[in-house]
Amino acid sequence: MMLRRLLVIVLSVGFFVANAQNSHDPKMDAFIRELMSKMTLEEKLGQLNLPSVGFDVTGPIVSQGVEEKIKKGLVGGVFNTFTPNAVKKLQELAVNNSRLKIPLLFGYDVIHGHKTIFPINLGLAASWDMALVENVAKASAAEAAADGLNWVYSPMVDIARDPRWGRVSEGSGEDPYLGAEIAKAMVNGLQQGDLSKPTTVLATVKHFALYGAGEAGRDYNTVDMSRIRMFNEYFLPYKAAVDAGVGSVMTSFNEIEGVPASGNKWLLTDLLRKQWGYKGMIVSDYTSINEMMAHGMGDAKAVTELSLNAGMDMDMVGELFIGYGAELVKSGKVSIETIDAACRRILEAKYKLGLFKDPYLYVSEERAKAEIFSADKLALSKDAAVKSMVLLKNDQQILPLQTSQKVAFIGPLVNDQRNLIGSWSAAGDWKQAVSIQAALDAGNYKYTYAKGANLVEDPALLKRLNDHDGRIESDPLTSEKLIAQAVKVAKKADVVVAVLGEAFGMSGEAASRSDIGLPEHQQKLLKALKATGKPIVLVLMNGRPLTLSWEDQNMSAILETWFGGTKAGDAIVDVLYGKANPSGKLSMTFPRSVGQIPIYYNHKNTGRPMDENQKYTSKYLDIPNTPLYAFGHGLSYTQFTYGTPELSATSIQPNQKITLTVPVTNSGNYDGEEVVQLYIQDVVGSVTRPVQELKAFKKVKIAKGQTVQVSFDITVEDLKFYNADLTFDYEAGKFRAMVGTASDKVQTLTFDAVK
Ligand code: BGC
Repeated sequence: MMLRRLLVIVLSVGFFVANAQNSHDPKMDAFIRELMSKMTLEEKLGQLNLPSVGFDVTGPIVSQGVEEKIKKGLVGGVFNTFTPNAVKKLQELAVNNSRLKIPLLFGYDVIHGHKTIFPINLGLAASWDMALVENVAKASAAEAAADGLNWVYSPMVDIARDPRWGRVSEGSGEDPYLGAEIAKAMVNGLQQGDLSKPTTVLATVKHFALYGAGEAGRDYNTVDMSRIRMFNEYFLPYKAAVDAGVGSVMTSFNEIEGVPASGNKWLLTDLLRKQWGYKGMIVSDYTSINEMMAHGMGDAKAVTELSLNAGMDMDMVGELFIGYGAELVKSGKVSIETIDAACRRILEAKYKLGLFKDPYLYVSEERAKAEIFSADKLALSKDAAVKSMVLLKNDQQILPLQTSQKVAFIGPLVNDQRNLIGSWSAAGDWKQAVSIQAALDAGNYKYTYAKGANLVEDPALLKRLNDHDGRIESDPLTSEKLIAQAVKVAKKADVVVAVLGEAFGMSGEAASRSDIGLPEHQQKLLKALKATGKPIVLVLMNGRPLTLSWEDQNMSAILETWFGGTKAGDAIVDVLYGKANPSGKLSMTFPRSVGQIPIYYNHKNTGRPMDENQKYTSKYLDIPNTPLYAFGHGLSYTQFTYGTPELSATSIQPNQKITLTVPVTNSGNYDGEEVVQLYIQDVVGSVTRPVQELKAFKKVKIAKGQTVQVSFDITVEDLKFYNADLTFDYEAGKFRAMVGTASDKVQTLTFDAVK
């Protein structure tokens, strides 16, 4: 017995020495080694325990008796608690009452802002503005860190090709390159390369991995994917976050190759830690370890063993690690080294955050007052909302509106505040949100108004949404009466602005839809308005791509505003009246119908590419293959004219670059910003390659009448992909470079790559 204990001690010391060589802070290593030498197994397991204390419950289990557990050293961190006061209270329990006085982590879902809410992430991605994304993340971190938090569950970087999935609203869309750029910008913004600053927080990249690829767009559903697809099309954003130094990784709910992510050793240890060299901590999603029982991976003890041995460090809400960890170590099913390694990674995060020096570093009433809803954050929120809007259509330049026009604003979202902040605006205060109506009034615009329709009419959906703080009030008037009133108002106007879309709860977590059109009763309103013969500008609020074929054919203009955040109303009014010029581009394809899903721009070719005149080609009988609005699409009030692109050379050698240059002229009547997009196709490969892949983009400001030369350097790095052996390399041969204003509006040049 003695001998076995001695062996364990020797082995653990050996482990620490090896690990100390990997991390670069000997002081931290010495501190943690010393601390851990005093810890019992139960206290070590306590560090792996992450209960929820507060309001936001996203699963069936709610944490119990947390305060007592903190005092016993059985809690490593909590989430859903914020405000300096509440955080201080719990931190005091840990620091004053637990044996080893180890401070707690305080985590929270700061997804698109903390109190000041920015546009939903799918909207922010449409800005294609990486400086903006980083600033939004930086501002969110500063606000969260002033409210007691030191850890946020962001960025969410799951690539998604199925708009039925409600959580597309939380991510950056369908493209791995754009997704990776955004992941990097968010990690940099949140962590600022220095976790010990009181204005930065530990970031969490999630949901590792492939959570966006659930079958049928249903949340939490099965994923089945080849490794070559994982590596080429889905992993990039997670890896970009890891390379940017993200401090924590959250596992996903779904299975991967038959093993749920929270117990998947290949994913967590072989890939993430060994191949990618990730050194930070791994946390489960909300009870995702327990949920492996429902997946069919065994009983509570078995899934605990699976998860710990897979490389999981922290158990969110499930309490399995503190429940079964000791027994599993004692029976030899899980080694003490595994527990030590997990505990150590959590302590390292706390050390890097500066919590051992000052457990109250993030607790400051003064900073909370200065940071929360500060003027600069509100201004940034408006700027972000403007830049995230996508002008999908604008016939005869109906937009911008003129103040001389008689404009009728119609729709349930004209005077709405609740929905503007979108889903996963966890601590956001919707009462601070500026509605369109409030912005019109503040700007002294003259307009008429009618509600026209309820936001949601289906009673079952209404109940579901209102059970989760939807606050959707139904008008006592019948649908017909509301429409009749709206038609009356519309008839007296020059232009109708219809503000319609989804309630915020119709996207986000556990909010998949099988029909992604505007709700039927809203479509009825639009049809009645159309019958008045007035031009209609459709202003949309929604958390996912919608099917808008009828709207596209019948509306004069369509402005996609997503859920724009605290300052959405001000931003929308500025854009509608031309004080700001829209510049957003879609980061996710809008299908013509749900039958096309999954639909994404960077698809492969078939052996029988579509040919309308040939029966046996890959197509639908009833609709074209093409989307309604392609990835990268987005108009401006001005026009951008592309000149002839040129390549500096027609062949590319290793260690050399070639430059593609294209002149872009602002040939319209407004100053504006254009996102110039570069796509590449590898024409012949050892495995089939996509028809095009985004490889670079530049967002450029061009004054009216001006021309700018936009250049992209291309190197062999841009041509690399994971081949059948999962080796990342390029292959010699012919390539196409496509440059343009959207993925479906490009000019093509060819070049060769030499090995
Ligand atoms: C979500 C995560 C979130 C967690 C904690 C889960 O249901 O999937 O994205 O971070 O809850 O709130």
